[in-house]
Amino acid sequence: MRISVIGCGYLGAVHAAAMAELGHEVVGIDVDAAKIAMLSAGRPPFFEPGLPEILASSVASGRLRFTTDISAVADADVHFVAVGTPQSADGDAADLRFVDAAFRSLADHVKAGDLIVGKSTVPVGTAARLAEELAVAAPGVTLVWNPEFLREGFAVQDTIGPDRLVYGVPDGDAGERAARILDHVYANAVASGTPVIVADYATAELVKVSANAFLATKISFINAMAEIAEVTGADVTKLADAIGHDARIGRRFLNAGVGFGGGCLPKDIRAFSARARELGKGEAIAFLDEIDKINLRRRSRVVELVEQQLGGDIVGKRVAMLGLAFKPHSDDVRDSPALEVAIRLVEAGADVVATDPQAIESSRLRAPQLKFEHSLESALRGAEIVVLLTEWPEFVSLDPDEAGDLVASKRVVDGRNSLDPARWRAAGWQYTGLGR
Ligand code: UGA
Repeated sequence: MRISVIGCGYLGAVHAAAMAELGHEVVGIDVDAAKIAMLSAGRPPFFEPGLPEILASSVASGRLRFTTDISAVADADVHFVAVGTPQSADGDAADLRFVDAAFRSLADHVKAGDLIVGKSTVPVGTAARLAEELAVAAPGVTLVWNPEFLREGFAVQDTIGPDRLVYGVPDGDAGERAARILDHVYANAVASGTPVIVADYATAELVKVSANAFLATKISFINAMAEIAEVTGADVTKLADAIGHDARIGRRFLNAGVGFGGGCLPKDIRAFSARARELGKGEAIAFLDEIDKINLRRRSRVVELVEQQLGGDIVGKRVAMLGLAFKPHSDDVRDSPALEVAIRLVEAGADVVATDPQAIESSRLRAPQLKFEHSLESALRGAEIVVLLTEWPEFVSLDPDEAGDLVASKRVVDGRNSLDPARWRAAGWQYTGLGR
C-alpha cells in the first residue's frame, strides 16, 4: 500500500520504518529538516533498539523515503498522523497545535477515497471534531482513530507485532471500508491472529488514555504501598511478588521505585483529568491527580534519602548518578525522574556526576548544569554516594566489590529496587531501596 506518515518522532519514525519493513511504500514527513536529513540517510535521530536495521534496509530498498514537503502525501492513499501532543505550557491539557496543523496541511493534498489515520494520543472528542472539519476541507476522505500502544525500547517489535489493534471508525459503509483498508495495512498482524477491536471514535480515543491511566495507577499503587512500607519496616518488593502471584493482579508494572516518567504516562493522565473536568466529570477520575502526586513524591523521597544517607549535608558531596533516561533501552529524558532528581541534587549543592548508556546527549540539552561521564567507572570514582535511577542492565549487574574499590564511601540508594540488598550489604555497602 502507499502510505504517508506525518510526524517522525519516537512514534512516527518507527511507524514509517515498520510499515516499509512490512512491504508498503512509505513517505515520512516532518517539519524538522535536520531530523529528515538523518532519517533519509537511514540513521535514526534517537536511540531505539532494532530501528537502525529496519530503517537502513527500507531506505536502501527505496520503499521508504523522508521529506519536509507535505505535498508528497499526494503519492499515498493512507495517511498516518503521528505528531506529538505534549502537555500545554499553561496547564494539564494536551496541546493539540501539532495535530491541528497536520490535519490542516494534509487537507490541501489528499484526495477523495483516501484514509487519514490518527495515531497521536488525543483527548476524547478530538476525532469527531476533526472528522467534521475534514468533511468540509477534504470531502470524501475518511478519518480513523488507531491509537498506538508501543513501548519505547520495544517500539519496533510492538509496531510489527502489536498485542491488539484498535480502529475507531465512523458509522456505516465508510467505517467498514476504512476497517478493511487498515486490515490490509496490518495484514501480517491480522493474519497471525492479533485481536482487532473496531469501535467508535470516542471508544478508540478512550482505550488509549485509559490503558495508560491504568498502567500509571498500577505503578503509583505499588509506590503508595512503598510509602507505607517505609514507615512500617515492610518490604514492598516481597509484597509485590506476593500479590503478583494472584493472576487477577499480576506482577508486571508493580515495580516500586522512583516512579514513572517519559513522554506518555505523566502527560496522558494529566490531559485525561483536564478533559474529564471539561466534560463535567472531573470527579470520575479525580484519583488520577492522586496517582500523579504519589508519583512525584517518590522523586522527593529519593532526594531526601540521599540527604539522609549523607548525614544531612550534601553541599559539595560527590554523587554518582547511574541513569538519566526515563527507563532503560531509551535515550528519552522527557519528564524523566532520574534527570529531575539529578537537577534537584545539583540545586541543593551536591557535586553530581551522571552517566547513562544512551541519554547523556539528550540530558545535556535539557540540563547543561549537570556533569556527565560516559564511563561508568569514571562516574563512580570518588563518589560519596551512588544513586541508581534507571535500571540499565550494566548498572543492575554491577559488581559491588569492584564498585566498592572505586567509590570514596560505600553508600547506595537503589531508586529502582533492582539491586540485591543482601549482596551489596555483604560487600560492605550501606544499601537503601525505596519501600524496602
Ligand atoms: C507507555 C505505555 O506502556 C505504552 O503502552 C504506550 O503506548 C506508551 O506509553 C505511549 O503512550 O506511547 P512508555 O512510555 O514507553 O510506554 O514506557 P513504560 O514502559 O510504560 O514505562 C513508563 C514509566 O514507568 C517508566 O519511567 C518506567 O520506569 C516506569 N515504571 C514501569 C515503573 O516505575 N514501574 C513499573 O513497574 C513499570
